Amino acid sequence: MLSLLRTYATENHVPIICEDGLLFLESLIKLHKVKHVLEIGTAIGYSALAMASLGCKVDTIEKNLEMAELAKKNLEVYDLNHQVSLIHSDALTYDGKLQVYDMIFIDAAKAQYQRFFEKYMQYLKPRGIIVCDNLRFHDLKPENVNRHTKQLLRKIETFKNFLIEHHEFETKFYNQGDGMSVSIRKLK
Ligand SMILES: C[S@@+](CC[C@H](N)C(=O)[O-])C[C@H]1O[C@@H](n2cnc3c(N)ncnc32)[C@H](O)[C@@H]1O
Repeated sequence: MLSLLRTYATENHVPIICEDGLLFLESLIKLHKVKHVLEIGTAIGYSALAMASLGCKVDTIEKNLEMAELAKKNLEVYDLNHQVSLIHSDALTYDGKLQVYDMIFIDAAKAQYQRFFEKYMQYLKPRGIIVCDNLRFHDLKPENVNRHTKQLLRKIETFKNFLIEHHEFETKFYNQGDGMSVSIRKLK
C-alpha cells in the first residue's frame, strides 16, 4: 500500500518524505514509544499512513484542498482502523480541537517552520519530541539559486538557530531524509 502511494507521489510530483527519512521517523517512533502524533503537512497521507501502520494515532493538518481530497480518499481505502484524522485547514490559523501528543512532525511550508513550532509546542507531552524534515533543503547552495530560494535558505538557517538556542528544547540534527531535526523538551 505504501509503495503504491510512493509511486503515485513520484509520478505526480507530490513531495513526500524520502525512504530513509521515513525509516528514521519509524525508528524514533519505536525508540520514544510514540502513540499519538500531530503532523503538519499531510499531502496524500503517505507519512500519516506509515505512522499509523506502526500503531500510532495521527492527527494531520493539510491546507491544500486538492491534497486534502486525495488524502481523504487514501484514508478511506487504507486507514482501516480509523487511526488517522485529517484536518483540512491552514495550520497557521487552525484553532480547532487538538490532543496532547508524543510527537509533532512538521513537514509543511519550510518558511513557516518557526511559526508552526511556536504554535504547536503547547500540544506536546512533557517528554515529547518535535521532528522537522527538509532542513538541508536538497543541499541547495545560496550562490546557485534564485532570490526567492535564497530567502528560503536563510529562513531555514534562522530556524535552525532558533532550535539550537531554544531554552526549553534540546535539538539534534540528522542527515537522514532531507535533513531532519529532533527536539526533545528538557527536563525542568
Ligand atoms: C512535503 S508535503 C507533506 C508530505 C507528507 N508529510 C508525507 O511525507 O507524506 C507538505 C504539505 O504541507 C502542506 N502545507 C503547506 N503549508 C501548510 C499549512 N500552512 N498548513 C497545512 N498544510 C500546509 C502542503 O500543501 C503540502 O501538501
